[in-house]
Amino acid sequence: MLSLLSLGLGCEEGKLEKELGGMEELLMQMKINYYPKCPRPDLALGVEAHTDVSSLSFILHNNVPGLQVFYNDKWVTAKLVPDSLIVHVGDTLEILSNGAYKSVLHRGLVNKEKVRISWAIFCEPHMEKNVLKPLPELVTDETPAKYPPRTFAQHLQQKLFKKGAQGGGGIKTPDQ
Ligand code: OGA
Ligand code: NI
Repeated sequence: MLSLLSLGLGCEEGKLEKELGGMEELLMQMKINYYPKCPRPDLALGVEAHTDVSSLSFILHNNVPGLQVFYNDKWVTAKLVPDSLIVHVGDTLEILSNGAYKSVLHRGLVNKEKVRISWAIFCEPHMEKNVLKPLPELVTDETPAKYPPRTFAQHLQQKLFKKGAQGGGGIKTPDQ
């Protein structure tokens, strides 16, 4: 997928993988979300609106609807496609692509009748080893860099800080 996404940016196919430190450095982390049944989903918080910090996230679920993405100013419920994985672009790829790939804002709702379980796998760069910044070939006078350089650890720190200060789950850093 990183190869195809590199080609989509007009770069050589190994570009994004290389910039992320290569397959030996990429860390796959799994989180299991358990959403209990809830008689009033409108009053409950499942997973609050956020963007993932990862490069890509892969989500497998138990065929109960609940994932929503923010699209065209509306929350849209993700379709349940049998035998499929859901893939999100995360903050790391938004930064590297200088905003060409958007880190999707999404949330998880509880369901009235059924327990929902999802297995989310986050593909993340090394905390310190790589500096995440827009690929130089995408930065021009007309398209200046939209994101200041940062390590993954710094990105997590800045996002946490921003969340505490403003309650937002977005990607932009305090100095933008
Ligand atoms: C997450 C997430 C969505 C889901 O864990 O980051 O967005 O479908 N989960 O449970
Ligand atoms: Ni998420």
